[in-house]
Amino acid sequence: PAVTSEVISRSDWNRVAIVLEELRRKCDTPADELLCVLIDGMVEEMKAGLAVEGGSKDYKMILTYVDKLPSGKERGHFYALDLGGTNFRVLRVHFGGKESQMKDQEYQEVSIPAELMLGQHEELFDFIAGKLAEFVSKETDAYHPLPGRKRELGFTFSFPIKQTSIDAGTLIKWTKGFAVEGTAGKDVVQALNEAMEKRGLDMVVTALVNDTVGTLAVASLATQKQDDEVMISVILGTGTNACYVESIDAIPKWEGPKPSSGKMIISMEWGGFSSSFLPRTQYDEALDAASVNPGEQIYEKLLSGMYLGDVVRRVLLRLAEEAALFGPTVPSKLLVPFILGTPHVSAMHQDESSDLQVVGKILGNVLGIDETSLELRKLVVDICSIVAKRAARLAGAGIVGILKKIGRDGTKQDSSATQNKRTVVAMDGGLYEHYPWFRAELKAAVAELLGSEVAKNVVIELSKDGSGIGAALLAAAHSRYGLFPFK
Ligand code: GLC
Repeated sequence: PAVTSEVISRSDWNRVAIVLEELRRKCDTPADELLCVLIDGMVEEMKAGLAVEGGSKDYKMILTYVDKLPSGKERGHFYALDLGGTNFRVLRVHFGGKESQMKDQEYQEVSIPAELMLGQHEELFDFIAGKLAEFVSKETDAYHPLPGRKRELGFTFSFPIKQTSIDAGTLIKWTKGFAVEGTAGKDVVQALNEAMEKRGLDMVVTALVNDTVGTLAVASLATQKQDDEVMISVILGTGTNACYVESIDAIPKWEGPKPSSGKMIISMEWGGFSSSFLPRTQYDEALDAASVNPGEQIYEKLLSGMYLGDVVRRVLLRLAEEAALFGPTVPSKLLVPFILGTPHVSAMHQDESSDLQVVGKILGNVLGIDETSLELRKLVVDICSIVAKRAARLAGAGIVGILKKIGRDGTKQDSSATQNKRTVVAMDGGLYEHYPWFRAELKAAVAELLGSEVAKNVVIELSKDGSGIGAALLAAAHSRYGLFPFK
């Protein structure tokens, strides 16, 4: 029989209303009572993570060994490898020198077979090196290294690592659904160099970067902003993280020589924030328990693209089970983890048709639930909106946390130069790019938290492709052949 809300009894709709109300209440993120408390907690964790290695259980506060942003003078032919989600990308880029103008760029995207994401370390790196070798074989002469040299590669590896130099770092743990055996504790650059060597590839990694760092590098160049403007970058994609420019004096755990810039980019791994004040529901707890990394990346699981769809699915599943929302039997597809993706949530939530056709189509095509009533489709939109709003506001709070840490949130008492300075926050990732409602909500949250006067100085803007091109740029900036000076 067709599933329509008519088949749902009045008492079941009462049950629906109760579940929805509870969801709304638990996902509520009032600025004064909650977000401000979270922000204070974030700043504390940041300080703890900068004080000593492992000082914060939430934030790794990774020293990236990038102490200057690109000068704009980088030039030459470089490669990049961007690994951070279910696809990886290989790129080659030619920088022309002036403002590191890109003369030429080519890339190829490869999806990682699911079994490799849960397989053995050597297999994953061999697969990557193989695809890279294929890509390199198609290069033009300009990319051939000069005699005695190797091709240079920027390696964007967007997982928590303990970085020990610009071109070395060991994996702390996998995130975002990866659970490859044998990588934790290993130097991922060495692993890639070895895999490339096995493939006979004449190439070496000269910069190991997180996607947030690549994004910051590209944003700082592209926008030609003044010094000290592009300070923060945030990825809101499959996973979420932020990096920012920290003063070296505020990093007690830094043991090396003081960089001449006096600064260091810190990759926070902010997805690990786990304050007990985070507004979590039973759906989040169940999602976490069923994940490959239970108890970890709690903040990330509340707001990144990998998880939002599954939170919505879990709410629908409960309504199907407890209130027969989709008729007497629970639609079997609703039981499949991750079947509903964040792009579906975004499309349903932003459905502008008066009869919510997009919602109807997605429920039909993805979940096998046909002929839904308008009332039911409206309910689905409501659920998407509640889950996405919580995510956007938590992300906004994260940004304000960083602004507060670096004294750009308008509360700093002194009248130093940082007051009234413009701060650019470079954003990337599919969740931010393809979900305008989410974007608007995030910006609104930041404005609410900062107050409109201070918020005027904070520019949150999309900065694309940093995780690929940014790595190539940093490889150029750290070239072994020393031709490419920093500012
Ligand atoms: C995950 C990774 C982090 C990355 C982020 C965004 O949180 O641990 O390194 O930056 O996803 O891709």
